[in-house]
Amino acid sequence: MKITVSGAGYVGLVTGICLAQIGHDVTCMDVDGEKIRMLQGGKCPIYEPGLDTLLRENATRLRFTTDPQTAYADADVIVIGVGTPEMPDGSCDLRYVYAAADSIARFAQSGTIVAVKSTVPIGTCEQLQTYFNEKTGEKHLRVASNPEFLSQGTAVQDTLHASRIVIGAADEETRGVLRRMVEPFGLPIVETSLCSAEMIKYASNSFLALKISFINEIANLCETVGADVTDVAQGMGYDARIGGQFLRAGVGYGGSCFPKDTKALYWISAHEGQALRTVRAAIDVNEAQKLLPLQKARAVCGDLRGKTAAVLGLAFKPGTDDVRDAPSLKVVSELLKQGARVQAWDPVAAERFAAALPAEVRYCADVADALRGADLCIILTEWDEVRSLTPQDFERTMRIPLVIDGRNCFDPKRFVGTGVTYESIGRRPVRNHAERTDEQ
Ligand SMILES: NC(=O)c1ccc[n+]([C@@H]2O[C@H](COP(=O)([O-])OP(=O)(O)OC[C@H]3O[C@@H](n4cnc5c(N)ncnc54)[C@H](O)[C@@H]3O)[C@@H](O)[C@H]2O)c1
Repeated sequence: MKITVSGAGYVGLVTGICLAQIGHDVTCMDVDGEKIRMLQGGKCPIYEPGLDTLLRENATRLRFTTDPQTAYADADVIVIGVGTPEMPDGSCDLRYVYAAADSIARFAQSGTIVAVKSTVPIGTCEQLQTYFNEKTGEKHLRVASNPEFLSQGTAVQDTLHASRIVIGAADEETRGVLRRMVEPFGLPIVETSLCSAEMIKYASNSFLALKISFINEIANLCETVGADVTDVAQGMGYDARIGGQFLRAGVGYGGSCFPKDTKALYWISAHEGQALRTVRAAIDVNEAQKLLPLQKARAVCGDLRGKTAAVLGLAFKPGTDDVRDAPSLKVVSELLKQGARVQAWDPVAAERFAAALPAEVRYCADVADALRGADLCIILTEWDEVRSLTPQDFERTMRIPLVIDGRNCFDPKRFVGTGVTYESIGRRPVRNHAERTDEQ
């Protein structure tokens, strides 16, 4: 099949390359000329494990262009994978979807199927169908919904081995074409209406966000009552009805999906007069959770003015260079606001972080450099380089070894009897120096 993917970002590019991997001829179209130039030169513009290898291996089946006519004119299926960011009121911004739709309406041939992979509010695909019907006259374009469930950091594996592929369409013929497109993946396919497919995506992300916020609230209560959230989550996770995934307590979720998708679903529900209270709670708990490391830091060292904070990890999770809505943005700007100096380390996300938060941060080439001379260390991403540290690494390099582990990377027992004070989420702190004051 001839497939064009509109938008060569985290979702569009991975989708395009994986569709080439199962034998389709794929054109990736993006309005970002720099991205397309890199891809034409055989370079991946994003960090995603395994993607550059697949890009090389499928070079003969992949084309990259910024020209909408070349991209859309003879495609059997056009997959829309452009961004759908958040509006200031929490609703979903569809301007990129409609910009892509505009060019598609102009250049696509009659009979082309337009599959919306971007996460869009329930009802968008039906509206898009009306838009095409009105705009294209004789030419008939058919809209389908094909939401994406991949996670950044494991996007290639998630696409090639997805738990399910959801196809929403208004008629059997459209559904059939999309089924043939994805069948070579050999994965379970769920076929639904347009609206249900859109709802499956929002409901899935919101449920996962809810699970994270739930365990984070339980973690905070664990600290008060003296329980250990790791044991609690393990004990809960054995129950197949609950499941062990997404029960890791921490400083909250970030990234380009959970924050905006929960807010968009809440906005839709409120707009429909049926505000989803559980989703609202998940959002509020998450916002508060991001500031927990700061509260812990202040509780131990008081005023942070003039202190040097080592921040380990800027990406919203390991395996990606994405910092969109990452807890690091909030933590670092708050540290700076409170007068602390920040020396940060991340193996891949420093550049994107600096672009997202232009501020006086010293970016370090390695973990040891970030820890050197620091008064406190805040761990925000559980990269392997962080998990492999020992208490002695903190002790040797920091001025005052206080570690606030926002991702529960270490067993607290390892810090007992060392010179490191270790605070984590939902577990008893290990306090190894006498009460600190600012003068230490
Ligand atoms: N990132 C994820 O983990 C993930 C997972 C599932 C679903 N999604 C959804 O997929 C969609 C894309 O997310 P992303 O993270 O890949 O975004 P992204 O910002 O990485 O990529 C979007 C791309 O679209 C391009 N673009 C914008 N307007 C365009 C146009 N008119 N024509 C062609 N290209 C255009 C941009 O230049 C950019 O390269 C969003 O709706 C998101 O919610 C994302």
